[in-house]
Amino acid sequence: MKEILTKQFNVFVGADSLTQLSELLIEKSYTKVFVLVDNHTKKHCLPLLKPFLAQFYLIEIKAGEIHKNIQTAQFIWQQLQDNNADRTSLLINLGGGVICDMGGFAAATFKRGIDFIHIPTSLLAMVDASIGGKLGIDFNGIKNEIGLFKHPHLIAVDAVFLKTLPNVELMSGFAELVKHGLVANKKMWHELQTLENVTPESIQKYIYQSIKIKVKIVRKDPTEKGIRKALNFGHTIGHAIESASILKSNKPILHGHAIALGMIVESWLSCQLNYLAPKDCIQIENYIRKHFDIPGFDFDINDLIQLMGHDKKNENGKIQFSLIHKIGSPKLKINCEQELIQQALITCLQLK
Ligand code: GLY
Repeated sequence: MKEILTKQFNVFVGADSLTQLSELLIEKSYTKVFVLVDNHTKKHCLPLLKPFLAQFYLIEIKAGEIHKNIQTAQFIWQQLQDNNADRTSLLINLGGGVICDMGGFAAATFKRGIDFIHIPTSLLAMVDASIGGKLGIDFNGIKNEIGLFKHPHLIAVDAVFLKTLPNVELMSGFAELVKHGLVANKKMWHELQTLENVTPESIQKYIYQSIKIKVKIVRKDPTEKGIRKALNFGHTIGHAIESASILKSNKPILHGHAIALGMIVESWLSCQLNYLAPKDCIQIENYIRKHFDIPGFDFDINDLIQLMGHDKKNENGKIQFSLIHKIGSPKLKINCEQELIQQALITCLQLK
């Protein structure tokens, strides 16, 4: 097992991380331990966690981004209250990004904050959502509109959970791992080129590398005033695609797939603005198209641009991008004209 220790939070990565977790629970002697699951993680992941826990209360919610809302947060608060959770209780979030974001949000606000631990079970949550203290819920169709920054007490990352994950979910997380290479680690990006198939086994070593990249950036800039914005590469376009898809479809595109598309478009923008070399832009597009199934869309360009207007990076009403300057190095706070964004969507995604 590897440990990444910081002043605010610790990350345990590897097979023994759940043993470490059970030792911590004994040491901290929490009055009550609650475990938040969704219907998938209850079935596939809870049986793997149970041997490491003594007594606990289970809180179950429905899986999916459409449930990451105030009603579900209220349900979690209600369960905590009905079972007499107090300030020395603990909430363990066992699941993907939605469980970590929303469970963390519910815990951080209940009685002004109780301890919480993330046990990410999806690749996306392991390398991204569980790290960095971003907590929240979606509101009025806008992703993560309501939330706060607060770090979990511990993040225990065990790749055993990836075996329970459908391939489409694994690929969703792989997009964030690729992003970490593109914005901060050229060497990892080059190594990823040699990966023929993305499987839980083939990506194990990149999980730790990816977490280290994210922790390093978060430590420098915990509340995203500067360098942490680099982690939003692909997200201005990607979040708009994801939000549009949630509003339009009952089987919306997954976060990472939307971000993969966003990275194609934002690499094109980086190239048009003469930051990124054309050959690197082509390499990124080819790599993403090789690994990700890109669905066809009928999104309206103006709807997407309107959704980008809600992006948290925007300043003075201007849509702001985190682009790349060259591979492994970010270019932050770039305002793009609406015409250029439209052109990018037409060129890269064949939107009309
Ligand atoms: N997912 C980007 C960040 O945590 O900053």
